[in-house]
Amino acid sequence: MNVLILGSGGREHTFAWKISQSDLCDELFVAPGNSGTREIATNLAIKVGDFEGIKTAVLERNIDMVVVGPEDPLVNGIHDFFLNDPELKGVAVIGPQSQGAMLEGSKEFAKHFMQRHGIPTAKYSSFTAETLQEAYDFLGTMKPPYVLKADGLAAGKGVLIIQDIDEAKQELKKMLVDSKFGKASQTVVIEEFLDGIELSCFVLADGNDYKILPYAKDYKRIGEGDTGLNTGGMGAVSPVPFADEQFLEKVEKRIIIPTVEGLKKDKIPFIGFIFIGLIKVGEDPLVIEYNVRMGDPETEVVLPRIKNDLLRLLAATHNGKLNKERIEIIPDSVTTVMLVSGGYPEAYEKGKPIIGLDKAQESLIFHAGAQWDQDSGIVTSGGRVMAVSSYGETFDEALKKSYRSIDQIRFDKMYFRSDIGFDL
Ligand code: AMP
Ligand code: GLY
Repeated sequence: MNVLILGSGGREHTFAWKISQSDLCDELFVAPGNSGTREIATNLAIKVGDFEGIKTAVLERNIDMVVVGPEDPLVNGIHDFFLNDPELKGVAVIGPQSQGAMLEGSKEFAKHFMQRHGIPTAKYSSFTAETLQEAYDFLGTMKPPYVLKADGLAAGKGVLIIQDIDEAKQELKKMLVDSKFGKASQTVVIEEFLDGIELSCFVLADGNDYKILPYAKDYKRIGEGDTGLNTGGMGAVSPVPFADEQFLEKVEKRIIIPTVEGLKKDKIPFIGFIFIGLIKVGEDPLVIEYNVRMGDPETEVVLPRIKNDLLRLLAATHNGKLNKERIEIIPDSVTTVMLVSGGYPEAYEKGKPIIGLDKAQESLIFHAGAQWDQDSGIVTSGGRVMAVSSYGETFDEALKKSYRSIDQIRFDKMYFRSDIGFDL
């Protein structure tokens, strides 16, 4: 099969690394890709939102399968675009059509879905500019901290957690009336604050059946001890020690099965990954959010723990034959530590040469915001630059390997968290 992966982050490099190991894989392309994917696949200079450009590449290169990394093209209907085009409709697309992608594209849609199917989640209500006064009244009935969520995609910035009610009201007005997050905050979901520990659950769904992939936990804050600004993710671990068998049984029974069955009942086709952001409150799992793709950097610890030929699994997903597959999970722990550009998640510089990658032999180095430059070699091109993943019999062992590898790698103003896994 010829395969095209859409995206340019650590997640997509990890997909490329895993798919390139498959006997079923003939030619592998990544659009637009990065310096890491360039070493194992052919990068195509096409943006993930350029559907016509993608179409041209798919036809020219005889692509059989497109694996969509990020959420934007899914929410914007890339799968529908393929199905509606007579020349493309035979191509396998991994990632839901826009209707299913609403689970991530609209928090209100996701909350209604959960309510309809009895899936445990925080109590909520949603509001628009017309119902601002009702929103204020609703806030008055809630206890702090107040959780305000822009309905639409806001690049991971659309959730505000605020202690003070007056500040919450001001922010709510900014979102609804002053378009703080543009169109994304035309509707705002206000929900109950849940106090617990978060983890990520990944499900591969073929429209009928599902497979549960390894659980993971990511570290979103920039600072040690989970402090400071939110980022795309500074590191991750898999498995998750506090998710014991009993807890995972509850997740499957109360959340995964009702989600897959709910999609069927609602006649929402869904072929692809469902990423369920969970929170463990006491001994019970609740859903914080759905995403319709793999997480980043969770992918950098989840895929290394899957023994199966991933391309075979994805082909089975496309063909509705997941029930014929068995997921084999490697028992080792895998940890990843993200190297980021100094200043991230705020302003940072780019174009810094990265050295020492060849010396970091103990780890898998997945490139994220890094590009190949004719003159300088591999240079930084984004906030999150490299994910350093390692295997170990225990977390400690895996983390030690990642940190030893990081000792070998250098770029100007490189920063990373030295406490990944600190809370486990
Ligand atoms: P989301 O974009 O929905 O994942 O929200 C971003 C982050 O906000 C989550 O990862 C949680 O840490 C936090 N969060 C969202 N909703 C809640 C909630 N109801 N209670 C507590 N924390 C929340
Ligand atoms: N690591 C969280 C995400 O991919 O959204």
